[in-house]
Amino acid sequence: MFLTNKINKLNLPDILTFNDGSKVQSPEQWEKRRLEIVELLTREEYGNSPQGPFKVMSEVKACNKYEYAGKAETAEVNIKVDTDNGVFTFPIIQNIPTKVKNPPVIIHINFRPASPDYYMPTEEIIDNGFALVSFCYNDVTMDNKDFTNGIAGMYDRSKYNWGKIAMWAWAVSRVLDYLQIVPGLDLNNVAVTGHSRLGKTSLWCGANDTRFKFVFANNSGCSGDAITREKTGERVKQITNAIGYWFCDNYYKYADNEASMPFDQHFLVAAMAPRHVYCGAAIEDTWADPYSQFLSYYAASDVYKLLGLKKLSCEDRLPEPDDTYAAGDLGYHLRSGAHYYSRYDWNRYMEFMRSKI
Ligand code: GCU
Repeated sequence: MFLTNKINKLNLPDILTFNDGSKVQSPEQWEKRRLEIVELLTREEYGNSPQGPFKVMSEVKACNKYEYAGKAETAEVNIKVDTDNGVFTFPIIQNIPTKVKNPPVIIHINFRPASPDYYMPTEEIIDNGFALVSFCYNDVTMDNKDFTNGIAGMYDRSKYNWGKIAMWAWAVSRVLDYLQIVPGLDLNNVAVTGHSRLGKTSLWCGANDTRFKFVFANNSGCSGDAITREKTGERVKQITNAIGYWFCDNYYKYADNEASMPFDQHFLVAAMAPRHVYCGAAIEDTWADPYSQFLSYYAASDVYKLLGLKKLSCEDRLPEPDDTYAAGDLGYHLRSGAHYYSRYDWNRYMEFMRSKI
């Protein structure tokens, strides 16, 4: 009852009520409601992105067939996408384990182009049997309010009002387009992950592209997976003031006006259903607010229940450091320590993914 009362007090918009006021009654109706949710978040928060199909080409720049003590084949590849203003190119790094048949795939949107990187333990990920593909978000478009550089400059803003989060998310989908021609991967088990702003990006990517079976949103917080109503730490006002270019202009109107939002961030989490979505939170990450993140997954569980899937498997209390709720079809852990993409987080995500394959 403790958590139900807590959620009831927030007065959240109902994920399972259609725009016309009728209730989602059966699992078969969910996809229709899910698309309404994606449309709502497109219009009010992240902006609209160019829709495919896209012509995606690739060019291998360098390849090492015997990397990481011979355990992986690595390649630097340029992804080339045909856009409204010509071909747009960005680089990725792929690592494919050589001793695993049909490895599942993790795509990591990173802050830096390096692999390995302190947010990305490449060798350990390969040792766990996953193929790992990564790219640096600034290579898609710079993290600033200039809308002429990178992919931002390739489409007319009068047609597409996407914010930068939507652009980075779009690029992950183009990487997955490219992966279709790479032999030997398990493309039924692909995850997208990122930290903080790139955790928000991962969630938006998974909501839009159902080819992703898993989203691992690390410390994504405000405008990611944290419920906005009564959130502590960062709120819509701070995020739109400081980095409003991550979103579309409609989002600004909710600054200091959260109660008027026809959605909350549990809509974004639920947009992954029936697929899997998992949150990594950290106890000292008060800017993100680990409890508001938790409440989102708790609230999104209503959809999983309707679909006959497993809800968040948690205690009827707020989480405590080192609690891991991974037995359901959506998951959450609360790590000790600060805002960071740590080995601890990666290990929980890989265990969860393995348990669902
Ligand atoms: C800022 C921003 C957060 C974001 C974080 C990050 O702190 O306010 O919303 O998650 O940067 O991406 O590291």
